Amino acid sequence: MGGPIKGEAAWRYHKATKHSFWSVRLTSHTLDWENQPIPFKLYRGLDPIPLPQQIPTSGVHALKAIATGPSGDGTLDLFTLAGLLHFSAGITKRLRYPGGTVYFRAAACTGALYHIDLYLVCGPLPDLEAGVYHYGPHDHSLRCLRRGDFRPVVAKATGWHPWTSQAPAIVVFASTFWRNAWKYRARTYRHCFWDSGTILANMMAMANSYAIPCRLLMGFVDDEINHLLGLDGRREAALALAVLGEGSPCPQELPTVPTLNVETAPLSKRELLYPEIVGVHEASSLHSAEEVALWRRGFPASSLPPVRGTLFPLHPLPLEQGPTIEEVILRRGSARRFLHRPITLDQLSTIIDRAAAGITWDVTPRQGLCLNALFLLVHAVEGLPAGAYLFRPETRELELLREGGFRKEGEFLALEQALGADASVDFFFLSPLQTVLHHLGDRGYRAAQMEAGIAGGRVYLSAYALGIGATGLTFYDDEVIRFFSPQAAQLEPMFLVATGVPAPRPRTL
Ligand SMILES: Cc1cc2nc3c(=O)[nH]c(=O)nc-3n(C[C@H](O)[C@H](O)[C@H](O)COP(=O)(O)O)c2cc1C
Repeated sequence: MGGPIKGEAAWRYHKATKHSFWSVRLTSHTLDWENQPIPFKLYRGLDPIPLPQQIPTSGVHALKAIATGPSGDGTLDLFTLAGLLHFSAGITKRLRYPGGTVYFRAAACTGALYHIDLYLVCGPLPDLEAGVYHYGPHDHSLRCLRRGDFRPVVAKATGWHPWTSQAPAIVVFASTFWRNAWKYRARTYRHCFWDSGTILANMMAMANSYAIPCRLLMGFVDDEINHLLGLDGRREAALALAVLGEGSPCPQELPTVPTLNVETAPLSKRELLYPEIVGVHEASSLHSAEEVALWRRGFPASSLPPVRGTLFPLHPLPLEQGPTIEEVILRRGSARRFLHRPITLDQLSTIIDRAAAGITWDVTPRQGLCLNALFLLVHAVEGLPAGAYLFRPETRELELLREGGFRKEGEFLALEQALGADASVDFFFLSPLQTVLHHLGDRGYRAAQMEAGIAGGRVYLSAYALGIGATGLTFYDDEVIRFFSPQAAQLEPMFLVATGVPAPRPRTL
């Protein structure tokens, strides 16, 4: 009688991985530095195919690139491919410290552990044969896993989604969970989408700057994509597909896909599997094209509580100004300290405008943020009283929920980190998770986290485009909801990012 309740596994996972004042104090987990995983997937015996190091700059303003919809007929060739991969997942900075070197990447990542890998499935491109490739940020090279055109395998796994019928390439985002779980244990599954989201924010912006449409598919038959890439679905698994470009018809005929036999370097002496991660990933997997199509029925419009507080209109800056998207990505780096200085209302308006621009994806055709609402803790913005706010997307205004100085609360909510207090504004993306899971099942969890991750990535990019700083932060889940209630009573926190005027950073090598 009766199957499992829709979304129950994701709900259980979410509740079990909340941080609280006591959970962080009572944990016995310590970092085993002797067993730290390497932050790269290194294939043995596969020759690198170096990508161009000299990538022509697009010259497109970051503020424009961040949030434009996918359009254009730009060419996906080796240069644009190199730009897309480098400026989303490549190494952009090296920092030497006594224990070694940290290779920082283009997009922010929890703990700088870089567990997300990108794979390319493409038809014939100028200067690149059709095939399945892995992108290695350590040497900015591709490695060929399969020769031939395997796009039909991806298309079939997506239920023959129309976006895949003409796309010259698809980039698959996948996590090797252990590379992040070494530090964050079961909470890593949330990070899969946060850290893919920040990479996707960069990739979508770069694609816009090259006029190459980039659209996101969250619905696919997991086993078929994992099999194509040689992932076992438990230790490492595909998370999302970025469909790149148009005008290159995908063959209809399905190639055979033999089991991949490739060897990779061990990540560390030992690896642990976290049953919570394996469990929620399996529960949120889709098993057939029919299931994918059913899942894509779309998410209905969610509603925010009625407006009660004073409304403040936003004044976003025009798109055509400021540094290029490449300059912004190279300049980005999570702020380690903020200076308590105010930002302007124009700056805040612009960041909100870009972050809330929405995604072109298969979850819902609606514009703007769909699975998350944006709550803000404003500490210091010229022309705006300090306090708690809710962004009203329908009128593009901020509603003042509670006026007051809440720096102390900002620190507490951000897991007692000073960055949450010293920032000018803390952005909280909160999702009506139970409603999302009711409509989209366990798979909806991936989508809710991903939307927040992409929006958070856009906060990062917009902040650096405006000459200020940002950092992702983790949080005490239930305390965040308590603080923003009653308006947030039915919501769950997905992502927190703080912006403000950063203190100067140490020099990188
Ligand atoms: C979702 C997310 C959460 C983060 N949480 C924290 C945090 O709680 N505290 C912190 O100091 N940094 C946090 N960071 C910043 C990362 O540590 C930083 O991105 C990483 O070290 C890479 O450095 P970079 O962003 O300067 O390239 C977070 C980043 C992301 C993307």
